Amino acid sequence: MKTEVIKIDRHEQPEDKLKYAAQAIKAGKLVAFPTETVYGLGANALDEKAVEKIFEAKGRPSDNPLIVHIDSEKAVEYLVKDRPPCASILMERFWPGPLTLIMEKGDAIPEIITAGLDTVAVRMPAHPIALSLIRLSGLPIAAPSANTSGRPSPTAAKHVVEDLSGKVDIIIDGGSTAVGLESTVLDITVEPPVILRPGGVTPAELEQVLGYGVAIDPVLLQNAGMDVKPRSPGMKYRHYSPRAEVVIIEGVPERVAAKINEMLRQYEAKGIAAGVLATDQTRGLYPPGITVISMGDRDDPRSIAANLFEALRKFDDTRVRLILAEAVDNTGLGLAVMNRMSKAAGYNILTAD
Ligand code: TXA
Ligand code: MG
Repeated sequence: MKTEVIKIDRHEQPEDKLKYAAQAIKAGKLVAFPTETVYGLGANALDEKAVEKIFEAKGRPSDNPLIVHIDSEKAVEYLVKDRPPCASILMERFWPGPLTLIMEKGDAIPEIITAGLDTVAVRMPAHPIALSLIRLSGLPIAAPSANTSGRPSPTAAKHVVEDLSGKVDIIIDGGSTAVGLESTVLDITVEPPVILRPGGVTPAELEQVLGYGVAIDPVLLQNAGMDVKPRSPGMKYRHYSPRAEVVIIEGVPERVAAKINEMLRQYEAKGIAAGVLATDQTRGLYPPGITVISMGDRDDPRSIAANLFEALRKFDDTRVRLILAEAVDNTGLGLAVMNRMSKAAGYNILTAD
């Protein structure tokens, strides 16, 4: 298959190009597009055959359900059966934005989207290109992150090209994504709601709006991640992996750097090329000649969220076979950052003491 890459300036919104892409969605084709979180791989959510192609292109296990993207709150009505009381306040405050709500599935949704579950994930993305694509196609768009299954999610069109060129019809290049991590997935079929995947909206932001505490799925709170049966099928798969192995080192930043330096010497002696995933504050603590890539500023968790996946992919272009990754603060947006990093490392985490 020949993949067409279409460059679109998010501020210009050229109708002809967007209509062309929307027409492709209507015709059952696959269109990768930018959202504020990561790039999505979109297809008509009501067309079973089109959705099947998403799973094929990504190599995605069929028991991992997809998020349905919409452009208006009204669209929720025919996608879900029951709208819990807290839905309105969450939609009003966080949509469009990086919050995915899990609700009871309506009959219009094909089984393939929900992988047979009786719930459906719905989100309204905060990106003008994504919203135009949904509006002009007049359809809900099913879209997982536009990476090959198991790889870091794409935050730029070039990442989508790397993974999916030749496997999808159109890739819309709308520049880098702002948030850089996927949406928060919140199950609101239960009370209190449960975070199934931490993401762009933090637990504190949710709690402030709801006026009460949200629960965090136990799978997210333990390192192994496997002992408890996952409620969100996506939780159980190896994820976000660059070509090199990843090991996380946690602890006080200076001690972490000391431990990493010690490990660098050991791996060098063994002839294993190791690199460091560091931060702006710590990147200078490693010797010259070592590949050191910064995720961003420790005092600005948003910069780290925005850069993490790109930083992981950058190691693919180096000779590094082992990435020694500094842990960052696990609170606020850091919860989502450390969730993705832990998965990239297959929960291989050491403590510096
Ligand atoms: O930010 C995002 O959410 C991006 C952009 C493209 O919108 N999309 C995204 O989709 O990250 P994906 O497919 O990579 O991740 C969707 C997650 C998976 O972990 C999946 O298991 C979970 O949402 N999910 C989908 N439907 C679900 C359901 N009915 N119940 C529980 N979890 C569900
Ligand atoms: Mg994904």
